[in-house]
Amino acid sequence: VQNYLEKLFKLQGKVAIVTGAAGQLGGLYVRTLLAAGLKVVALDIDLNNPRGQLKKIKGSRLLKLSADVTHKLSLQRALRAVLDRFGCIDILINNAALDVPPHRTSGPFEIFDEKLWDQTMAVNLKGVFLCCQVFGAAMARAQKGSIINISSIYGILSPDQRIYQYRKPAFFKPIDYSVSKAGILNLTRYLATYWSGKGVRVNTLTLAGVANAQDSRFLKNYTAKIPLGRMAESGDYRGAILFLASEASSYMTGANLVIDGGYSCW
Ligand SMILES: NC(=O)c1ccc[n+]([C@@H]2O[C@H](COP(=O)([O-])OP(=O)(O)OC[C@H]3O[C@@H](n4cnc5c(N)ncnc54)[C@H](O)[C@@H]3O)[C@@H](O)[C@H]2O)c1
Repeated sequence: VQNYLEKLFKLQGKVAIVTGAAGQLGGLYVRTLLAAGLKVVALDIDLNNPRGQLKKIKGSRLLKLSADVTHKLSLQRALRAVLDRFGCIDILINNAALDVPPHRTSGPFEIFDEKLWDQTMAVNLKGVFLCCQVFGAAMARAQKGSIINISSIYGILSPDQRIYQYRKPAFFKPIDYSVSKAGILNLTRYLATYWSGKGVRVNTLTLAGVANAQDSRFLKNYTAKIPLGRMAESGDYRGAILFLASEASSYMTGANLVIDGGYSCW
């Protein structure tokens, strides 16, 4: 049994790229993949982002690359650096995204700033499109790989604005994030079928909110909607990353794995 399980989840020596690696969850994915024996490329536009833990992570199997997912040239440079150092790409985790920082106000839909809409779409959707075009295409050429596109419960459901109603000034969870994360689902399906003959599997991983020192009113409102009664800890997503990256998910492509404490059940 031991041997069978080891083979199923074997990832040692494989090469993974994590975009947005310097953020809250990205650093955790980097740690998880390094612990599983992978060579990891941590890509971010801001490698020193104080929100994450990437700065503290070191190792001979880790390559940190500063790159902008909205710029193809920047990604092409990153691709050359990855291939020079590690020779191939086996796993791509499209994790970089813009969300609304908790301290920023977001007005009602009717006056939502179109510049913000454009910025969000550029990173959350075009960024994934470009990373697939550059890194995913290299995987398809090599006839192997697993792509994991990160979405959110707000990409499969509308945000429940009642959660935020207590905030002053009035806050609305904005539309740009939700729509961009919904787009991930069909980008995933499109590429899953497009690359089905090339040995590249493409799946979405849909997450719910992660505990991160939110205020008590928010926590009360949000967790009331979660059957498991708590927000996610970032560690809750590690198993799903290893599952989607490895042969354990070999018959899965174009799918959406929802890890949300039950949020989407009711
Ligand atoms: N944290 C949550 O509660 C939560 C819930 C559901 C889904 N998600 C999803 O998980 C992923 C990670 O979330 P997080 O909370 O770690 O986000 P985060 O904001 O902490 O990190 C995002 C990272 O992306 C980087 N980035 C932004 N623009 C970039 C660009 N143009 N090029 C390269 N890198 C860029 C940022 O510098 C940052 O380090 C996102 O896709 C998010 O939508 C998060």
